[in-house]
Amino acid sequence: MQTVGVIGAGQMGAGIAQVSAAAGYRVILSDVDQARAEAGKAGIAKRLARDVEKGKVDADARDALLGRIEPVGDVAAMAPCALVIEAATEREAIKRQIFAEVGKVLGEDAVLASNTSSIPITRLAQAAPDPARFIGVHFFNPVPVMGLIEIIRGLATSDETVATIETYARQLGKQVVRANDAPGFIVNRVLMPMLNEACFALGEGVATIPDIDLACQLGLNHPMGPLTLADFIGLDTCLEITRVLFEGTGDPKFRPAPLLIKYVEAGWYGRKSGRGFYDYSGETPVPTR
Ligand code: CAA
Repeated sequence: MQTVGVIGAGQMGAGIAQVSAAAGYRVILSDVDQARAEAGKAGIAKRLARDVEKGKVDADARDALLGRIEPVGDVAAMAPCALVIEAATEREAIKRQIFAEVGKVLGEDAVLASNTSSIPITRLAQAAPDPARFIGVHFFNPVPVMGLIEIIRGLATSDETVATIETYARQLGKQVVRANDAPGFIVNRVLMPMLNEACFALGEGVATIPDIDLACQLGLNHPMGPLTLADFIGLDTCLEITRVLFEGTGDPKFRPAPLLIKYVEAGWYGRKSGRGFYDYSGETPVPTR
């Protein structure tokens, strides 16, 4: 059984650890300290407890899955991993520092992958121990539910590295798409302009928050309306990716909506901060305008 390292035990990292362990991999899950790594694992246990209650997973399988996840407070523990996936904060300086640290222990044939949703893979590869064994592997939130992985090869990524990641992704039962190392790859290139446009529409008074969401949910058969989805992803993340599209292409069609910028400046990041286009302090989300 191969060992997969996951760096970052937040929403994405914990999800990646969960689906990797569910596929039979041993997982070493790290965060900045032991307590945060343990908290990531506790979140997985909580989700799995609900799955056991619903009868989707049996208790023995849950216990075996959790037994395969080892939380650690230091990336030095990643030495036995054949594959290490970085799912840390979406800040380039932080990722570069992590790559330098994990580079000290990464095995000679091991692959290092980043779950970045917006930073160019070729540029990030410059901080990796070996750009040929570096690749983008973009998961979607919530990781256990979403069936897709985008694979992004940098200029120097080798065919063997692509093959390693494709084998891993299929083992997880996910569908794979290959994207070039262009701003936003495929999904965010298409999604973010839609979310941004919903912010323009709201800012221009086209319709209310619930009507914009309901229109897209029922009119397009999307599981969530765009403003709900933006809150779910995080408005700071949406703005960050929209800026990457704008700056990376130089095309004014990607300019961020003033209202989106304002919400982020106000610290209204969506679900994670308790308020975005909706207020999440009560039982059910309430539109804020
Ligand atoms: N972890 C694990 N499972 C979860 C989950 C989570 N965080 N959230 C929901 N689920 C599961 C539930 O357990 C439930 O499973 P069952 O049907 O088997 O019981 C199922 O998903 C449906 O959940 P709910 O009934 O609670 O709610 P829902 O029907 O409204 O679905 C949703 C919730 C799955 C999030 C759905 O609304 C959805 O698919 N929304 C769109 C999500 C999306 O577009 N994600 C991509 C974001 S973009 C991105 O991630 C990339 C980027 O770079 C920004």
